[in-house]
Amino acid sequence: MQTVVDLTRCQGYAQCVFLAPEVFELHGEEGLLYATAVPDDQVERVRQAAAACPVQAILLGEE
Ligand code: F3S
Repeated sequence: MQTVVDLTRCQGYAQCVFLAPEVFELHGEEGLLYATAVPDDQVERVRQAAAACPVQAILLGEE
């Protein structure tokens, strides 16, 4: 699985960082983040993070 954060939507709520800290990471003073390929053992956490994002900025895709 892969994941991408739509930075035009992300408002820095950081629910994703709380739920899946091994995948999502805050960068810079803007509080935005980025992500990449999702290890198998993190897939469920990333799904939870996507569901928890208040602005639906987390996009999921199968490889
Ligand atoms: Fe942004 Fe949503 Fe995470 S707003 S910081 S992608 S919870």
